[in-house]
Amino acid sequence: MARLANWLRLAAMFVAVAFSATASFPVAAGVDLPRLEKGKGDKCVEDTQFMRRNHMDLLKHHRDDTMRKGIRTTRHSLKKCVECHASEKSGSVAASKEDFCAACHSYASVKLDCWDCHATKPGKKDLPLLGQSGTAVNSSPLNSIAQPGESK
Ligand code: HEC
Ligand code: HEC
Ligand code: HEC
Repeated sequence: MARLANWLRLAAMFVAVAFSATASFPVAAGVDLPRLEKGKGDKCVEDTQFMRRNHMDLLKHHRDDTMRKGIRTTRHSLKKCVECHASEKSGSVAASKEDFCAACHSYASVKLDCWDCHATKPGKKDLPLLGQSGTAVNSSPLNSIAQPGESK
């Protein structure tokens, strides 16, 4: 009995490992996985493999830097991601299920709240409350919404 339980646990672990291995390399693995449109230009802001695994950390750190410390760099800006990764068809990164960010996330069951505030299309004004010192801020009707970082 104990041996069977052990065996089952091992089998379950094996399945879990196999699954997470494909889940973290959805594209490299090939079959059954979302087809991603290639971004504009020759390469991403970092190595492609690195981006597959670590883009969420880049974005979050970048956001934290922007919001808390007032640092603004553009290298890992969300706006830039959108500029290069918007779909030829929908013009967006997350309007349809095939769009770059959404394709992968729906496959991986990741839900983002980012698009509540940030534009999924390039060229649009990204945020209504631009500027940390700007005058526009006070006149925005959206001014009262929660700042990111406060929620969650
Ligand atoms: C409640 C609204 C809101 C939500 C939700 C939100 N943000 Fe933001 N975000 C802002 C505001 C406001 C700024 C500051 C804009 C500025 O300074 O230009 C900002 C700035 C940023 C920046 C730095 C500016 C840029 O374009 O790169 C990044 C990166 C960023 N957010 C990423 C994210 C990510 C990733 C998510 C989802 C996990 C997210 N945000 C969700 C409101 C939001
Ligand atoms: C200058 C244009 C450009 C910008 C800006 C850019 N990317 Fe990319 N990105 C690309 C290209 C081109 C590729 C495909 C590279 C390849 O085929 O090796 C890519 C690949 C990726 C991949 C891997 C896709 C795959 O096939 O598995 C991810 C994830 C990614 N980018 C996320 C982001 C995020 C998040 C941002 C913003 C922080 C961003 N990119 C900004 C051009 C860009
Ligand atoms: C190659 C597949 C892939 C692509 C393409 C992709 N993502 Fe992701 N993303 C993931 C996976 C997988 C996770 C969950 C990682 C985890 O939970 O550790 C994730 C998580 C995130 C998170 C963190 C969510 C949270 O609440 O923790 C953000 C933010 C994010 N992605 C932004 C983007 C943006 C913006 C784009 C498009 C520019 C994009 N991603 C494109 C696979 C992808």
